[in-house]
Amino acid sequence: MHEVIKIEGGHLLEGEVTVSGAKNATVALIPAAVLANGPVTIVGIPQIADVDSLSAIMRMLNVEVTEVAQDHLIIDPSRMKNVDLDDEIVTKLRASYYFMGALLGKYGRVRMKMPGGCYLGPRPIDLHIKGFEALGAKVVYEKGCYLIEAEKLTGAKIFLDIASVGATINIMMAAVYAEGRTTIENAAKEPEIIDVATLLNKMGAHIRGAGTNVITIDGVNSLNGCFHEIIPDRIEAGTFIIVAAAMAKHMVIKNIIPQHLDALLSKLKEMGVKMKIGVDYVEVERSEGLKSVDITTRPYPGFATDLQQPLTALLTQANGESKVQETIYIERFKHCMELIKMGADIDVMSGYAIIKGPTRLDGSKVAATDLRCGAAMVVAGLLAEGVTEITNVYHIDRGYSEIDKKLSSLGAMIWREQVED
Ligand code: EPU
Repeated sequence: MHEVIKIEGGHLLEGEVTVSGAKNATVALIPAAVLANGPVTIVGIPQIADVDSLSAIMRMLNVEVTEVAQDHLIIDPSRMKNVDLDDEIVTKLRASYYFMGALLGKYGRVRMKMPGGCYLGPRPIDLHIKGFEALGAKVVYEKGCYLIEAEKLTGAKIFLDIASVGATINIMMAAVYAEGRTTIENAAKEPEIIDVATLLNKMGAHIRGAGTNVITIDGVNSLNGCFHEIIPDRIEAGTFIIVAAAMAKHMVIKNIIPQHLDALLSKLKEMGVKMKIGVDYVEVERSEGLKSVDITTRPYPGFATDLQQPLTALLTQANGESKVQETIYIERFKHCMELIKMGADIDVMSGYAIIKGPTRLDGSKVAATDLRCGAAMVVAGLLAEGVTEITNVYHIDRGYSEIDKKLSSLGAMIWREQVED
C-alpha cells in the first residue's frame, strides 16, 4: 500500500490562506541552532517532513528537541555529542549538509553520509568543500561518508564561483567560531541567508552583509541561546498565488513579504492576473484570458527555480507560446512529462521548455517526481477535468505544510488515500 493525493479538479477556490515559515530557512536554522551553547527557541516552524528528519538527526547528536507547540521548537544543544552521522536519515534530505558547517564550526570535526534531496540533475557540493578547506579543514570522502577535520579554523577570503545558497550558509556556519575574519565573495543573496545570519547574530555571531554579495564573518568565542521567528516561505506563498491565478474566485494569501516575490508577481501581472498587493498579503481575483510569458530562472532576486515548476502548470492555460528557461538546474523539467500525461502541449529541449496553451488538462495518474514537481501536479490537478491521482506524496510533504488542509479550507476537493502497490 502507498499513500496518494487525489484532487477532483474544476472547483473554484475562495477564502484566505496563511503561509507558513520558510522551509529553506528552517532547514538551515535548525542545524545553525546547534552552534549555540544554550537553548534556542524557534517559532514559525512549518509542519514538514524535513523538520522531522532534522529533529531525528539532532537527537542522534544528543541535542534536546522540544516541540512546545505545533510551530514552536526549543533546541537545546547543552549536552550535545559530536557522533558520526552515518544513518540513512541523512540521505533523506539535502539540507542535512548544514550539519557539515555547524559541526565543523563547533567541534572542528564532522563525519557524515552524503546528503540526499530532490534529484534535479547533478547537485555537487564542491563549493561547500572548497570553503571548508579555505578555512583550514581537510576533507576526505571514504566509504560513502565525508570526513571533514580541522585542527584550527582560520578566517579566509572565499570567492564562490557560483552564488550557491547552500555553500554560502554552510561557510557562514563553519566560520562563526574561526579565528579572524572570513569574507565570502559572490555570496548568494536569498532571503533565507539573511534569516540564518540574523539567527546567528542573535546568538552572538558577528556577520555583516548578508543579503548582499559580500558577507563578512568575524569569529567569536561563544554563542548563546536566543529566540527567533522564521520568515514566511516565499515559495509556498508563490505556489498559493499561482494556485489562485489558476482557480480562485477570490483568494487572499496572508503572511507574505511581497518584495521576496517581485519576479513572480511581475510575471503574473504580465500574464494578466488580477492582483492587489498589500503590505503582507496578496489578493487574487478570477482572471480570464491569461497571456503567455517567457521566464528565465536566476538566483535571487531573479525568478526562483522553485517556482518555475508550479508556474509551468499555470502556463498550460495561457494563450500563446511560453518559454521557460532553467539556468540553475538545467534538468529540472520532469514535471513537464507529467503535465504532458494530463494533456499539456510542452516540448522539453535542453535547458528550456516551450509550452503552448491553452490546453485542456484531464485528471490522470501522475507522480510528484520531486518537491516542486509535486506543487505543479497540485496546480494541474486543481485545473483538470476529473480526478488526478498524485503518487510519491512524500516529496510534497517534505516541503509543504498541510497543503491538503489549506486547499480544502479554500474549497478544493483534495484528499489522501491508501492504494495498492
Ligand atoms: N552548485 C555547485 N556546487 C556547489 C553548490 C551548488 O555547482 O557546491 C550549483 C548547483 O548545482 C546549482 C547552483 O549551484 O546549479 C545553485 O545551487 P545552490 O547551492 O544555490 O542550491 P542548494 O543550496 O542546493 C537551495 C534550495 C533549493 C533551491 C536552490 C536554488 C535548500 C535546502 N534548497 O538548494 O530548494 O532550488 O537553493 O534556489 O535551501 C526546493 O526547495 O525545492 C529546492 C530544491
